[in-house]
Amino acid sequence: MQLHEARVVLTGASGGIGQAIAGALCAAGARVLAVSRHQHELQPLMAQYPQQLNWVAADLTIPGDRRKVLAAAQAIGGINLLINAAGVNHFALLEQLDDSDIEALLALNISAPICLTKVLLPLLKEADNAMVVNVGSTYGSIGYPGYASYCASKFALRGFSEALRRELADTRVGVLYVAPRATRTSMNSVAAQALNNALKATVDDPHAVASAVIQAIAGDRRDLYLGWPERFFVRLNSLLPHVVDRGLRKQLPLVRHLSQNPDKEHSKP
Ligand SMILES: NC(=O)c1ccc[n+]([C@@H]2O[C@H](COP(=O)([O-])OP(=O)(O)OC[C@H]3O[C@@H](n4cnc5c(N)ncnc54)[C@H](OP(=O)(O)O)[C@@H]3O)[C@@H](O)[C@H]2O)c1
Repeated sequence: MQLHEARVVLTGASGGIGQAIAGALCAAGARVLAVSRHQHELQPLMAQYPQQLNWVAADLTIPGDRRKVLAAAQAIGGINLLINAAGVNHFALLEQLDDSDIEALLALNISAPICLTKVLLPLLKEADNAMVVNVGSTYGSIGYPGYASYCASKFALRGFSEALRRELADTRVGVLYVAPRATRTSMNSVAAQALNNALKATVDDPHAVASAVIQAIAGDRRDLYLGWPERFFVRLNSLLPHVVDRGLRKQLPLVRHLSQNPDKEHSKP
């Protein structure tokens, strides 16, 4: 896809990765409808790109708000790129979560992108060349303790992306599934950051993630898995899951300790 010809609906636009993608798309000449509930974080970009960046206020878990996004997309004459990047995460053991937290996470991370894609597909199909981009995670391929419901949502998003790609194989709409590894944004709680620190996990800059996503869109790719050794572990987990079981079993005391002391920096369990 030619980025300067892109007319984009971007969800999660006020978040760390979303803002970086919005900035990179605007710099490449794209027209962007930035979707989120809050506008504040987007104001500097809106001031920088007043002709290209418009904000659409929407809670994506509400069907009427998703139809507002459709109306905004129709008002700019249609779109050829939908990027589903809104998401939420809770680092906690399953038993620590309220049902309402789990339901809200699943509603935003999986029901919302599926339903938004459905509502925008007729517009995408009208374009000469279009793409749906779903922002998943390394945790969409590796089940990780402390992230059970988040992993469930990202595994589901990966399955949705694969099935939709096959369903649209005889159309002009492609599907790209993106799996970032840990990225420096406010999504990660103090405890999640402490876990990354303790495991010496590399945490990417959101601008590096955005740049890789933009290149994957320009290259009409079907998937993008970010980071080494995370790509290797994704492959290992699919081929030899028992080996990964054993490795993660050793991390359980740390995961338990940090998830039960969510506001404390890491101290030895
Ligand atoms: N950060 C990481 O380590 C990491 C790693 C791998 C994958 N990812 C994935 O990358 C994507 C972006 O993550 P991020 O790190 O940029 O997260 P973030 O900074 O926490 O941003 C989350 C975004 O989701 C939006 N959002 C939350 N609830 C919403 C709702 N009900 N309706 C509409 N929008 C809503 C937020 O906007 P408002 O609050 O303004 O509505 C915000 O724009 C997510 O899908 C995440 O799972 C992140």
